[in-house]
Amino acid sequence: MKIKILDISYNGKGVGKEEGGKTIFVPKVDVGEEVEVEVSKTNKTFDEGKVLTLLKTSSNRIEPQCPYFEKCGGCDFQHLTYEREKEIKTEIIKREFEKIGVKEKIEFIESEKRYNYRNKITLKQLNGKLGYNEASSHQFVEISFCPLADEKINKAVFDVLKFLKTKHFSFLKSVSFLLSESDVLITFLFTQREKLMIDETLKEYSIYLAVGEVLEKARITKIFGKENFYKVCGVNFPLFPTSFLQVNTLVSEKLYQFVQHNVRGMRVVNAYSGQGVLSVVLAQNNEFVFGIEYQKSSHEIAEKIKTKNMLNICGKVEEVLPNLTGKLDAIVLDPARAGCKKEVLEAITKSNITKIIYISCNFATLMRDLSLLLKDFKTEKISIFDMFPLTANLETCVILTKKQEKSKNLLKNA
Ligand SMILES: C[S@@+](CC[C@H](N)C(=O)[O-])C[C@H]1O[C@@H](n2cnc3c(N)ncnc32)[C@H](O)[C@@H]1O
Repeated sequence: MKIKILDISYNGKGVGKEEGGKTIFVPKVDVGEEVEVEVSKTNKTFDEGKVLTLLKTSSNRIEPQCPYFEKCGGCDFQHLTYEREKEIKTEIIKREFEKIGVKEKIEFIESEKRYNYRNKITLKQLNGKLGYNEASSHQFVEISFCPLADEKINKAVFDVLKFLKTKHFSFLKSVSFLLSESDVLITFLFTQREKLMIDETLKEYSIYLAVGEVLEKARITKIFGKENFYKVCGVNFPLFPTSFLQVNTLVSEKLYQFVQHNVRGMRVVNAYSGQGVLSVVLAQNNEFVFGIEYQKSSHEIAEKIKTKNMLNICGKVEEVLPNLTGKLDAIVLDPARAGCKKEVLEAITKSNITKIIYISCNFATLMRDLSLLLKDFKTEKISIFDMFPLTANLETCVILTKKQEKSKNLLKNA
């Protein structure tokens, strides 16, 4: 069937209309293009399609650099210029904010690197091969490098593939690669315990063995290598296979500096603080920083790198924040994809916090949480930090300040 692409949806897919008006989503196209498509999946209210032939092409098209782009499903915009990718991302965020009545200008913070920006990747293992699972079909797509990953990681992928050729593992589920200042941490995740004897091929790396279904909950043992560190905004911190690291170091530094600049001189809560790197950055220019993180392993690292004007609390934000006493001026929220619990938003509203910096990698939950916060706060600034170039994923940062009349009421009732 022939369709015209009318729009790009929030997940980077082209939107078209079939005869009869049913919506069809098609990946790897641009607005205005005319394409011959086949339906690959049908749902009640919409279909998903695949391009068979490009009939009319966009002037924004370029040749994708990755040989796996068509099959892999990890990237959405390799067929378009960066200019067009930035325009699409800004348009998506603008539209979402307009839905909740916010018409702020959107600032776009670019990534210097469009390729080779990832400091970590996880690849599935199947019969000695490594690859990704295609997003919608979940089919294994074999790869021997990922152009989004740092070159040192790709060298490690090459060496692991060489190593796997000489071995046979029955329970090896995946291999994760994490960049440190001077090395790559390679973690072999087994669903059941299996012997891992490394050889010369992997002697230049730090090797970990993990047993479990997912890395975050696995039992992890170090097999080989030195202690590892990573540096963000000049903060040096120990690195482990489970460490949370924003995937794009250069953009995460811009984000942390942006947050630092916007809460300068305040008493700040850094909620969902991970290993406390942002807390340390904030503590350089702030009176006091409270970090709240529930993962014990991350909290322990935060304790190792903390400065004098910092307090790290190990607990759930929804339980800790309502009981936090004393003067607080601002809060940084950087939750996981699930967003914030209602109790967190209510606690902020009831407190004397006048500034919120909400960092989000999932704008569905961001929009949900903002629609509650916007009763008492107004948006000052919306910025997109392009943490994940070539993919439709976005890191959005919203600055909110307390509406004047709400601050006055709180003072009156104090
Ligand atoms: C997106 S990461 C942010 C990490 C940190 N801000 C950084 O930039 O490194 C989200 C963090 O929230 C933590 N987390 C998730 N749910 C939580 C909760 N209910 N209470 C406290 N921490 C939570 C996760 O363990 C993770 O470290």
